[in-house]
Amino acid sequence: GDVFTYDPGFTSTASCESTITFIDGDKGELWYRGYPIEQLADNSNYLEVCYLLLYGELPNESQLKDFVARVTNHTMVHEQMHNFFRGFRRDAHPMATMVGVVGAMSAFYHDSTDIGDPWQREVASIRLIAKLPTIAAMAYKYSIGQPFVYPNNELDYASNFLNMCFSVPAAKYTVDPALAKAMDRIFTLHADHEQNASTSTVRLAGSSGANPFACIAAGIACLWGPAHGGANQAALEMLQEIGTVDQIPEYIRRAKDKDDPFRLMGFGHRVYKNFDPRAKVMKESADEVLDLLGIENNETLKVAKELEKIALEDEYFVERKLYPNVDFYSGIILSAMGFPTSMFTPIFALSRTVGWISQWKEMLSDPQNKIGRPRQLYVGADKRDYVPVANR
Ligand code: CMC
Repeated sequence: GDVFTYDPGFTSTASCESTITFIDGDKGELWYRGYPIEQLADNSNYLEVCYLLLYGELPNESQLKDFVARVTNHTMVHEQMHNFFRGFRRDAHPMATMVGVVGAMSAFYHDSTDIGDPWQREVASIRLIAKLPTIAAMAYKYSIGQPFVYPNNELDYASNFLNMCFSVPAAKYTVDPALAKAMDRIFTLHADHEQNASTSTVRLAGSSGANPFACIAAGIACLWGPAHGGANQAALEMLQEIGTVDQIPEYIRRAKDKDDPFRLMGFGHRVYKNFDPRAKVMKESADEVLDLLGIENNETLKVAKELEKIALEDEYFVERKLYPNVDFYSGIILSAMGFPTSMFTPIFALSRTVGWISQWKEMLSDPQNKIGRPRQLYVGADKRDYVPVANR
């Protein structure tokens, strides 16, 4: 029969050609369309980066203005979606709610599900980027029993998200511009990361011709796992569980023990065998945000920094080239901003949506595109005859 290459976990199989994101795992470099992530994190902003990822170049002033206007125009969700949210249990994890609601977008926006029509593809893309913050904020409000807050189109993308999460009708809430900037930076750092598990899921789902809302829902479902986007929640919960610096050695010991399933969350990466450049930016941001909020001596940040230091000097982690990844410090910032841990992965999901869409669009316009269909090495039973139940 046919001979296939066996590559569990796809560690050495390129599934596509892409012009979007480049990672050099040995050097610890990450570029979006050629621009280093550090430069974008310092000088750009999320919507500009969205434009860059989607269309390949940085926008000029009028292109950016037009793009921002188009996204802003689509921030509201269909009013009937409010009822859809109400069908979920209050105590549902916001990611569970998001998988469902985003999947349901193809029922609410079926006028942009024809993937053969470039205009519909464009509208669906803008709708997803515009509505994901609204949906994530609604999932949060629902989970804490507060009323949904409508988007406010006078606010920028990040401020609007913070406002939808933290404002209540009873009290005036003003978004701190410095916090909005930190939020925007977190969105930017998560915007794309080439062919990771959730992006590959989106591409595979999309390769069958499924509509973009269904594909993004599949991506969100995949992102949720603790080995992927769910690691940001798991990492902060781990740091909180460690609690104090003196407890670190015990957790390091457990992480190295092959009979203990425990792993240091927010540590290690399939591609980076060096510092994750996003973790470096995030670490600086954590210091800035805590400073800004006047939080001194944050025990969790202290534990994180000490844990990083001890791990980076430990032979086990050095040998395996395990460094902090994007999820290691992000939770400290989000938590200081007031988000519960259950909102960390939804924030990752809304940030990554643009990456998923950019990759999905790239795939559809690739002449080499065909349905994704991995093969297998069959190692099951040989051909045998059915035995009636009475004879078994
Ligand atoms: N703690 C302890 N040991 C680890 C860790 C860790 N966090 N990560 C990897 N190892 C060990 C692993 O046990 C293995 O050791 P050995 O060779 O002795 O069996 C070796 O390092 C290689 O690990 P692997 O599991 O073969 O590597 P992988 O490329 O399949 O997994 C990973 C990558 C990110 C899933 C893994 O490092 C991990 O589970 N990390 C913790 C979860 C995490 O932080 N995930 C977030 C990834 S970053 C972005 C995102 O959110 O998606």
